[in-house]
Parts: sequence; C-alpha cells; structure tokens
Amino acid sequence: MPSDDQKGASTPADIKKEIILRKPESQDGPRVHKLIAECKPLDENSVYCNLLQCTHFADTSVAAEMDGELVGFISGYIPPKQQNTLFVWQVAVHAKARGHGLAKRMLANLIERDESRDVQFIDTTITPDNEASWGMFRSFAYERRMPTEEFILFDSRIHFAGQHNDEHLLRIGPFNRDDA
Ligand SMILES: CC(C)(COP(=O)(O)OP(=O)(O)OC[C@H]1O[C@@H](n2cnc3c(N)ncnc32)[C@H](O)[C@@H]1OP(=O)(O)O)[C@@H](O)C(=O)NCCC(=O)NCCS
Repeated sequence: MPSDDQKGASTPADIKKEIILRKPESQDGPRVHKLIAECKPLDENSVYCNLLQCTHFADTSVAAEMDGELVGFISGYIPPKQQNTLFVWQVAVHAKARGHGLAKRMLANLIERDESRDVQFIDTTITPDNEASWGMFRSFAYERRMPTEEFILFDSRIHFAGQHNDEHLLRIGPFNRDDA
C-alpha cells in the first residue's frame, strides 16, 4: 500500500515523460553548481568551471529538466588528441529523479547527437567505491553489447598526493556505428 506521502506521486513512466533533455546554456551555471553539490560524492568545481561546461562544452554536455527544475546534468568533452572519444567528466542525477534510467538516457542523448558522429568510445573515470557509477556505466554498455576495459588513470599517491581516491578509467566501445 502506498503511504500517504506516496499517493499521487509520479510513476516511472510519468517521470520519463516529464523530463526534457537539452544542451546546457550559460544561464545554467549556478544551477549546475547547486546540483553537483547535492550529488555526493561528486567533486565540486567553481561556478566559473560549470559556466565553461555550459558554454564551450555545451555540444557534449546535457541538462535534464523536470517542471523547470534542473534534475540531471552530464559534463563531457572530446579530448583534443582523441577525436573519436567522448570523455564523460561528471554525471549527476538529483535524488528525486534517480532509478528511472535518466543517467543512461542522458548518455544516449550525447552519443546520438550530430556532434558525436565520429565518437567510437566513451571514456570516464570512476573511484573504486562509487557503486552507483560503475553500475550505471556497465549497464549502459551491457544493454548495447559494447566491450569495456578498465585501468587506473590517476593514482591516489602519484597524482593526488594522497588527498583523493584512485580514479579508474572505464572505456566503453568501439561503437562500430557502420555495423548498426
Ligand atoms: C550514478 C547516478 C548518476 C545514477 O543515476 P540514475 O538516473 O539513477 O541511473 P540510471 O537509472 O540511468 O541507471 C541506473 C543503472 O545503474 C545501476 N545503479 C544505480 N544506482 C546503483 C547503486 N547504488 N549501486 C549499483 N548499481 C546502481 C542500476 O542498477 C541501473 O542499472 P539497470 O538499469 O541495469 O538496473 C546517480 O545515482 C547520481 O547522481 N549519483 C551521485 C553522483 C555520482 O556518483 N555520479 C556518478 C559519477 S560521475
């Protein structure tokens, strides 16, 4: 039985329908900053950094809105020396919108764009203890029958002076779009 506060709550299908995906815009900077702060354990960056994500990297980033509220964001970019790769920097879904496939939908939105036509791989880094992130990316790869590989990219001691956990690189692909 639903509790009183669950009555009238949105179903998963409602939530999917209500959420609009779009490219971020410069005015989104402070809202992105707030969302990231609410999505532990993500590292917080400056509002200025979020503004750059929303402007210079808008073609490879995505914002998700529900009732005018920012509930999801992925920042990404194509590394200058790896033009066939979409590097996914951070994925954030507000607690109220989790568990309905939004993170995977945002990832799919990014690789379906014209700007991603040459992308063959998704790269991301994940700390070993972030089970939600591993689960989400592996599920995304599994659903598309895409191979994955993993190695340590940034070592806690060598790259973070022991102040941050290791960051493991997870590579998904190649997508082999020609075979699709
Ligand atoms: C990780 C995060 C983005 C997932 O968002 P989401 O919209 O709920 O994810 P989706 O619904 O698209 O995908 C969920 C998949 O991940 C898996 N998953 C989600 N949370 C999980 C958890 N805590 N442990 C293990 N797997 C988990 C689900 O099993 C699901 O796979 P399935 O569809 O095969 O069952 C969200 O929990 C979040 O913002 N967390 C805080 C910030 C963070 O850690 N971001 C990732 C680092 S970049």
